[in-house]
Amino acid sequence: MEKTNEDVLVLAIESSCDETAASVVKNGRTILSNIISSQIELHKLYGGVVPEIASRKHIEKINQVIEEALKEADVTLDDLDAIGVTYGPGLVGALLVGVAEAKAISFAKDIPLVGVHHIEGHISANYIEHPDLEPPFLCLVVSGGHTHLVIVKDYGAFEILGRTRDDAAGEAFDKVARAIGLGYPGGPKIDRLSKEGNAYAFDFPKAKVDEAPYDFSFSGVKSAVLNHLNKCKMQGEDIVAADVAASFQRCVVEVLVEHAIAAAKDHKIDKLAIAGGVGSNSGLRTAMEEACRNNKIQFYHPSPIFCTDNAAMIGVAAYYEYQKGTRHGLDLNAIPNLRLGER
Ligand code: KG4
Ligand code: ZN
Repeated sequence: MEKTNEDVLVLAIESSCDETAASVVKNGRTILSNIISSQIELHKLYGGVVPEIASRKHIEKINQVIEEALKEADVTLDDLDAIGVTYGPGLVGALLVGVAEAKAISFAKDIPLVGVHHIEGHISANYIEHPDLEPPFLCLVVSGGHTHLVIVKDYGAFEILGRTRDDAAGEAFDKVARAIGLGYPGGPKIDRLSKEGNAYAFDFPKAKVDEAPYDFSFSGVKSAVLNHLNKCKMQGEDIVAADVAASFQRCVVEVLVEHAIAAAKDHKIDKLAIAGGVGSNSGLRTAMEEACRNNKIQFYHPSPIFCTDNAAMIGVAAYYEYQKGTRHGLDLNAIPNLRLGER
């Protein structure tokens, strides 16, 4: 790879949950490599992520994944300007693997270490394929662990307008999928099955949180689905899984779209992005696109590969943090409940 003196090359590592990932990012927006080793097949056996198994798999895979990322980008550790790593939030044992690896490389090669907030990474995924996108904009973050409505005021500067009071959107997808027997991870399976079902077969409740118009609550809809399934079983009725999936998805998507559009209008923001694993949901994309069009809001979303956990998004976030002067020492620790905007 040709590298000029002005080029900034970041190696990024992501290991907060069940993907071991490494990526080389040039000047914040050009992805030279994006290697992801997924553990999904392993965790499927247990119906969800088993933290202890995740940590062990990260240890097994991380060196190989980093080597591949460097090779594909055609760079060596000596070419790097910084190393970015997710240090929270996430599973502590899983995070520690990435953090320890990044610290070792930073120390051995004497390159700056930049710790990255996982959600800042998800938001930054939008910069990869939208060279024109710059803050300020509104971002709906919907992942397996988080549901946040955020104003991105500047690179790495956030104002949180709303968050979930209970389950994250992805968590609700996963739990409902398990209940209708689709297995883990549920989001993509519900998405697929919804296409064959009637989204108006059932009217599951759409919870509103009093006094907090941008907050979310998904435990109500999840319980309503579980109650419906139990009732069917007890009365010996057939369960039409596709209708349940489609109605559940419509309900969640409607809440997400309504909140996001209301926040954009209330705050007079004309750019709206989505981020996180649920951001690849086809129903959400279609509904959000239409709502944005109707309200003259520019809509941004990353490709599915940049929605679910990956290290390219961490590299992008690390680049902007690096440019702002963020540096972490070798005492950087994994912080499982790190809040957005905290250091
Ligand atoms: O962002 P992510 O990879 O990990 C976290 O940071 O949590 O999100 C994973 C979540 C899982 O709950 C998964 O079921 C959900 O994203 N997901 C989807 C879709 N693809 C992944 N949910 C709905 N529709 C999808 N197409
Ligand atoms: Zn994530």
